[in-house]
Amino acid sequence: MTDYHHPVLEQEVADFLVRDPDAAYLDVTLGGGGHTAAILDRLGPHGSITALDRDPEAIAQGRARFAGDARVRIHQSPFSHLGDFCAPESLAGALFDLGVSSHQLDERSRGFSFESGAPLDMRMGPDAESSALDWLKSASEEELARAFGSNSDLDRPWALAKRVKLLLGEDPAPTSDLLRRAVDGIYRPRDGERAGLLARVFQAIRMEVNRERDEIKTGLAAAVGALAKGGRVAVLSYHSVEDRAVKETFAGFEKECVCPPRLPVCVCGGNHRRLRKVLRKPQEASAEEIARNPRARSAKLRVMEKV
Ligand SMILES: C[S@@+](CC[C@H](N)C(=O)[O-])C[C@H]1O[C@@H](n2cnc3c(N)ncnc32)[C@H](O)[C@@H]1O
Repeated sequence: MTDYHHPVLEQEVADFLVRDPDAAYLDVTLGGGGHTAAILDRLGPHGSITALDRDPEAIAQGRARFAGDARVRIHQSPFSHLGDFCAPESLAGALFDLGVSSHQLDERSRGFSFESGAPLDMRMGPDAESSALDWLKSASEEELARAFGSNSDLDRPWALAKRVKLLLGEDPAPTSDLLRRAVDGIYRPRDGERAGLLARVFQAIRMEVNRERDEIKTGLAAAVGALAKGGRVAVLSYHSVEDRAVKETFAGFEKECVCPPRLPVCVCGGNHRRLRKVLRKPQEASAEEIARNPRARSAKLRVMEKV
């Protein structure tokens, strides 16, 4: 465990994934390296783990942490490109620990924090094209409303979008305070409600800036292609929108028949199923883990196996 990030369900994830100690594994969200280390602990001399992260700070700390262990390979990349680093049908297990690390949240300059006066950035890595502020400025009111509604299930997304645009027009140097003012203006939160609302507004913007929904869908599909038969993919998600994207993507790979619903009979052959559930219901963290690490509170672990 490091101060960079405390991994969630660390032993459980490694237990589900590692069944052959001399096989190849992939951790697409290296972060502080906690899960990579737990997987590595279970590997023999011929096992290997490739770790990706889009954030150069995670890459630098991972290279320092695992220096000298030839079983670990580390690459900076968004996980939608994981196919560049592993051959088709080569992996025994892949892990996606979604969202941001504690380090990213705590580093005020990264712009994920809603402390007063923090910059509006929120890029997880250099592959994100624009900062949160640039995105807020360039997106239309409709695009903002759609993001607030669909990325965070916020009430009154149109009113919020309109208020954000209005405040942007009045503020020559916008910071996190602009979003606080917008939330206060629209929802009039009581003490204790503001932080939750702001977290959801930040989440909605962060998901756009980092194209998170597309990353999840493309990354999981690429992982299915990279898994060998019997290989497993584990995903940790931390909020309902993330979890929905994971669940929907997996559901597509569980279907035997992929014919359009309008066809009266199956013409696709009915043998398209690529994944089966290892866990019938997502696993959550224990009360003890949540007491130690509050970030574990909302975690849901889904594990699937390639058939
Ligand atoms: C929750 S943290 C992972 C923590 C890690 N499992 C550990 O034990 O420390 C998520 C990490 O994934 C990275 N990340 C998020 N989305 C990504 C993506 N689409 N491609 C690559 N890395 C991503 C973030 O930069 C962050 O470092």
